[in-house]
Amino acid sequence: MSIVEDARQAEYVMESSLTGAEYSDPEVFHQETGRIFRRRWFSIGRDETIPAPGDYLVRDVAGDSIIVMRQPGGGLRGFFNTCRHRGSRLLEESGHVDKVVKCPYHSWTYGLDGGLVATPNVKSGEMFDRADFPLWGVRVDSWGGFIFVNMSDDPLPLEQQLAAEPDEPLTFGRWRMEELRLGDVREYDVRANWKIVVDNYNECLHCPTVHPELSALVPAFKRGEVEDEPDSPGNRLIAGATSFTMSGRSSLPPLPGVTDEDRHIYRGSYFLPNLMLNFTSDAIRYFLLFPIAADRTTVVLGHLFAEETVAGGADLGEVVRFGDLVATQDWRVCESAQRGVSSMPFAAGGGVYPYQDRLLADFKKRYRAMMGTGS
Ligand code: FES
Ligand SMILES: [Fe+2]
Repeated sequence: MSIVEDARQAEYVMESSLTGAEYSDPEVFHQETGRIFRRRWFSIGRDETIPAPGDYLVRDVAGDSIIVMRQPGGGLRGFFNTCRHRGSRLLEESGHVDKVVKCPYHSWTYGLDGGLVATPNVKSGEMFDRADFPLWGVRVDSWGGFIFVNMSDDPLPLEQQLAAEPDEPLTFGRWRMEELRLGDVREYDVRANWKIVVDNYNECLHCPTVHPELSALVPAFKRGEVEDEPDSPGNRLIAGATSFTMSGRSSLPPLPGVTDEDRHIYRGSYFLPNLMLNFTSDAIRYFLLFPIAADRTTVVLGHLFAEETVAGGADLGEVVRFGDLVATQDWRVCESAQRGVSSMPFAAGGGVYPYQDRLLADFKKRYRAMMGTGS
């Protein structure tokens, strides 16, 4: 440990954790929906996955379901996945429609722009004007090839939200993420609160126990730390390692924009509420969290590579398998934590954040400020 780190650790005042109720109470989850997920921009997926008009993404998040639809002119529009007639879900999974979205209940039909175009057996003008009943819209924007949506009426611009993030996403331009391509994407049904997944991401005290393979590649992780030095830009890998694989090496070329220094460094970052980005020199792993209930989160793990790497049919398996291994190790302990936090004494008081959990203490402050529940 360095002198600087020693000094910081000596000054650190241990904080209490979020309470068990904040991790497990359905009422708290309900309040988060209004104060966080219906207010902030959250990422819903990759732009490249819906290239053609009529391609769409569907994601359920905190009690709402959102459709993002590619338009004939190339742009994106977002809608609540709810019929204007009597509220039926319109689409269940991501996919493609030719020209219209037809409700499965009474066949009311909407154009790709959300306009109501047909109401079988109910004549427009007889009882109502169809123009008054388009799908309810949500705002859509994108950054780094990620599609973001916002359900509020008057949100901050996406860029302003990102600019205020402590992990400084707007400094990541040189990675040119919008030009990278998805080599693998998979989804996990994690039986844990979304904040337990965030907490777990923001510390590495668990790494030596839970991730022996990963800890063998990252010296800081082996000693339970998330960074080499306080405020260092990333973590140096062991000598010779350039990738997150079992051997620490891969046959894949570096991503465009990667510097010589980047070749041997790992960077992790989290953007509240639901995007995490992990940078290694040959791949970027992202996680998207979709809170489903107080004790349940859908997590999407995607692996991004250089376009030529994916187009050329390179073997991505060793990188992707390693990502899946580490993720699966994490979900197991997140689920174990979820089962523990609703026990009576923890639910009332909570746990503690020692120095190595300081990023969790920072997250707690931001979270409680958003929730209006103090510090
Ligand atoms: S609920 Fe959609 S057409 Fe009736
Ligand atoms: Fe982990």
